[in-house]
Amino acid sequence: ADGDAVAGKKAFKKCAACHAVGDGAKNKVGPALNGIVGAPAAQVEGFKYSANMVELAEGGLVWDEETLAAYLHKPKDVVPKTKMSFAGLRKDEDVANVIAYLKTFE
Ligand code: HEM
Repeated sequence: ADGDAVAGKKAFKKCAACHAVGDGAKNKVGPALNGIVGAPAAQVEGFKYSANMVELAEGGLVWDEETLAAYLHKPKDVVPKTKMSFAGLRKDEDVANVIAYLKTFE
């Protein structure tokens, strides 16, 4: 089901310590996330990704809604040894809402 971008903005508070979105978003602990939905992994300029993430990106990992949902639910299931130190969003609803919110940033 499609998520709710307004609810996703709230859920994104859990991400905002490490990720910026919107005009002038800069890399923080994690890469800026404008345009991330549908984008190939590990392509944000100036961000140093984990070796594992780079390897998967070279293998063709793309953040379509399915892979992104899996990563946000359990990061290490998608990118073992990812340096994203985040347990994951437990509720499917939060995952869908955060993705809907991210889709509002090109
Ligand atoms: C990577 C989303 C929470 C730190 C990523 C990527 C996405 C993402 C989509 C891959 C970016 C790319 O391929 O360019 C999110 C969302 C979060 C969240 C939506 C909240 C639900 C966090 C938190 C932290 C963090 C809380 C810091 C404690 C990182 C780091 C990476 C990353 C360091 C790079 C991972 C690597 O190279 O293995 N995040 N993130 N993220 N995130 Fe997050």
